[in-house]
This record gives sequence, structure tokens and C-alpha cells, in this order.
Amino acid sequence: MHDATKCVKAPEVSEDGYASLTVPTHRASTIVFESAADYATRSQRDLDGYSYGLHGTPTSRVLEAQLTALEGGKHTVLLPSGQSAIAVAMLSVLRPGDTVLIPDSVYPPVTGFCRDFLAPLGIGHDIYRPDASDLEAKITGSVRLIWAESPGSTTMEVQDIPAIAALAKARGILTGIDNTWATPLYLKPLALGVDLSMQALTKYPGGHSDLLMGSVTVADSDLRKGLRDTMRMLGLGVSPDAVALVLRGLQTMSVRLAHSGRIALGLAERIAARGEGLEVLHPARPGSVGHDLWKRDFAGASGVFSVVLPEAAEPKLEAALNGLRVFALGASWGGTRSLIAPMSVAGARVNDHPRNARTILRLSIGLEDPADLTADVDTLFDALR
Ligand SMILES: Cc1ncc(COP(=O)(O)O)c(C=O)c1O
Repeated sequence: MHDATKCVKAPEVSEDGYASLTVPTHRASTIVFESAADYATRSQRDLDGYSYGLHGTPTSRVLEAQLTALEGGKHTVLLPSGQSAIAVAMLSVLRPGDTVLIPDSVYPPVTGFCRDFLAPLGIGHDIYRPDASDLEAKITGSVRLIWAESPGSTTMEVQDIPAIAALAKARGILTGIDNTWATPLYLKPLALGVDLSMQALTKYPGGHSDLLMGSVTVADSDLRKGLRDTMRMLGLGVSPDAVALVLRGLQTMSVRLAHSGRIALGLAERIAARGEGLEVLHPARPGSVGHDLWKRDFAGASGVFSVVLPEAAEPKLEAALNGLRVFALGASWGGTRSLIAPMSVAGARVNDHPRNARTILRLSIGLEDPADLTADVDTLFDALR
């Protein structure tokens, strides 16, 4: 062989005696075949095999298998973000003429996706109350999917997932859930009767605010085929390097989650104890919306909760937030840095609730020293008093 060929054709080296604890990062667009016959017969439609980098590498298969085991499902697909995981979950089961029901407390871009993307395709949507009190009345013959998110974005309402799943199942309707807050460590939606369990791996599984990814786990082979067909049609896959980061993050997730959850609950109690017209929304606090459901269905609480501010605090908010020394201002969560985000949900909600008119601070607790976080929280709420 000439030098140019030697430059591009990697020599074979022995792997005998090599064992490591890490998952190799297989970067690939092209997959090559062992023989002409293999090339002729191997198909992109073989969902477990390898045909093109977009459709999976041994690296992504490891993460899929790990998430499948955690969610208690049979198959997982990986998408480039949490939002794309929601979009693909919906597109994989909805057809023109169908309707999807979403809770009023859903991650707001989901409402936008239904309104601005699904509706022009002839796919309808309707919005139900997070407590599902109006859900049955909204079930028409066209409803194909009921989406849930528990606890809800920002307002943290816990939903009765087994009841929603049972209601749907009795009518031949599919259910899907955004399981990002709890992660499968603290909630197992498939065991509660849900068909599609989605997570933004961007948050706790990634864990370091340096990647974007989403997943959908199912127990049904037809649902898996629908997901993979939709991904193939849209050309969606994930980067092996991002997968490697999630595989790394996942290894410490149980410890990070337990720590952040414990510190977050302590801070929530501390803020609630101030009174001062503050309303703390944290599912693990008795009295919070859906606390009993949380106790029944969840194995723990992660590090994200919200505080509704009284009207009198509003004029002081900007200066108070600018005075933070440890918390960073940001709307994401699940990383090592604690974040705070002032949220206004009024524009995103259909149903009236007094808190919807207020500013809601969403806090995500990270891994800083709890004493520093406590001092920052005290300074913030002193400034808002
Ligand atoms: C509850 C929830 N679901 C989904 C997403 C979307 O995830 P991503 O940012 O990876 O698209 C987010 C992001 O903030 C979220 O908070």
C-alpha cells in the first residue's frame, strides 16, 4: 500500500488483554459491510442492527439499554434534545384528524408545537386541567394521545398518572409523559400504565449543563417502530460524543439527585418559614398541590421547585436577582450550578389561577456548598421583603 492509503486505512491492532470500565465512543456516519452479500441484505429497517451512523452506534445502544432498564421498558430512542423527543413522540402516533390532549401546566414549547406545527398538519389539540378534573369531558372520538407532565412546569402540580393512564387505556387512547423532573430514579411511568416515557437528558442525566439530548422509552414494539420510522423520515439521531457525556453523567446521577433533592427541600422549607406572602411549590412539602399523589407514586424529589412572589415584591425583583452571588440566572436545570429563573406563566395558561398572574421564581439546586446557597437565598428574600 502507498502512503496515502496508509494514512486513511487504520491498521488492525490486538485488543487481547484490554478491558476498561468505560464505554468506547464510536464516531461514525458510514457503516461498512463485511461482504457484498451483507451489503445487499442488511436493511435500515433492522431496528437492532447497524446500517448508518444516524440510526445508532454501539455507544448509543449502551445508553438506550441503560435508559430502558431504568424506565422499566423494552426500547428507548435518543433524540437531539428534550423538545425533539416530545415532538417525535407525538408525531410517531398522531395522524391528521387526531387530537392530542395536553395539561395546562405543560412545558410551554409543547403548546407552541401543538398550535404552530401540529395544527397546520390537521392534528388538533386541547388543554386539560393538571388535576384532570375536565379530562374525561375533553375526550372525543378523535383523541389519540393524552400527554402528561408531573410535576407541571413551574407550577409543579402533581398529576394522578395511574388514573389518567387507566382512563385512556379504557378508551384505547395512548398516554405519554414528560418524566424530566423525577427522572426514572424517582418515577416509573411505564409501571403506572403510561405508553411513552420521555426525558430531557439535557437536565439530570447529562448533569453538567454542557449537552442537549432527549429520550423516549416504550414497552411496545409497534410504538418503537413508529418512533424509529419518524426519526428516519426526519433524519434525526444523536452525536456519539454527546452520548458519551450522558453515559458519564448518568453514573453520578443517583448521588447528585439525592443531594440536590435534600438541599432543595431544606431551602424550600426555609423559604416557606419566612411567611412574607411567599407560596412555595414543592411536591414533597405537605400542602403543595398534589403532595399526596407525589407520596404515593414517586420515590423521591429532585432539586427543582418554585416560589410564588407576592405583588409587593415585584418592584424589588430586578435588584434582588442582580444581588445573587452563588445562584446563576438561567431557565434550565439539572446541572452542577444552582439556577434561578423568574417565570411568568400567565401567557402560557388557559385556565385562571391567582398564582398565574404572579411572578414565580423557579429554583434548581446544584452542587455548591449548602451554606453558600442558604446565604444567597436569605439575601434574595431579604431584598424582596
Ligand atoms: C420539563 C421539560 N421538558 C423538556 C424540556 C426540553 O428539553 P431540551 O432543552 O433538551 O429541549 C425542558 C427544558 O427546559 C423541560 O424543562
